[in-house]
Amino acid sequence: MEAEVLAEIAREVSVCTRCKLHHSRKRAVPGEGPANAQIMFIGEGPGFYENEQGRPFVGQAGKFLDELLQRAGLKRSEVFITNVVKCRPPGNRDPELDELQACGAYLERQIAAINPLVIVTLGRFSMARYFPTARISAVHGRPGWVGGRLVVPMFHPAAALHQPSLKEAVLQDFSRLPAALEHARQAREKQRIEEEKKNPPKSQQPIQYTLF
Ligand code: URA
Ligand code: SF4
Repeated sequence: MEAEVLAEIAREVSVCTRCKLHHSRKRAVPGEGPANAQIMFIGEGPGFYENEQGRPFVGQAGKFLDELLQRAGLKRSEVFITNVVKCRPPGNRDPELDELQACGAYLERQIAAINPLVIVTLGRFSMARYFPTARISAVHGRPGWVGGRLVVPMFHPAAALHQPSLKEAVLQDFSRLPAALEHARQAREKQRIEEEKKNPPKSQQPIQYTLF
């Protein structure tokens, strides 16, 4: 069961010592949401309040993310929200390369278990996993296919919150998210039909008569 896989990852993360961020963490923040979520949001890393509560996006940026989700017609309870690093970088500094690499395996396992239709990256660190050379100012809000999954890079809510021009852009980008989700749904359905044509389920296979 995917939910059990996610619970197991959360258990491992809570006692993980794979990178130096474990020294200063109070609570690890594995992420939260349903195992069958169609959309996954990947932020940067826990901040002060997330480190206190063990939950993602519960501070100011989180309040703004709630507003953005609403803009996209999504409930927080139906999406999965996590970060590229699960423990708070001291003083909210950027996550470092060794930390991103150490923590990446957890994120990969979460993505594999959830198998979301759409991944939304929040900020440049999660964007870089999928579009390593892209500039966020050029590609924000534009979905791209990566490894059979639709990935939409968005400005980080914390950055957008205090910059009026970015705020307007991120609000607009989120209002287009339902269209991206629908596009991904149709693509997956088309793929399912193609595969079924190649490999019809047993009940639909023509009966093979034998001579005897
Ligand atoms: N910012 C992030 O990137 N992630 C959180 O969980 C909270 C704030
Ligand atoms: Fe482990 Fe990730 Fe926390 Fe580093 S940030 S200690 S890799 S859970």
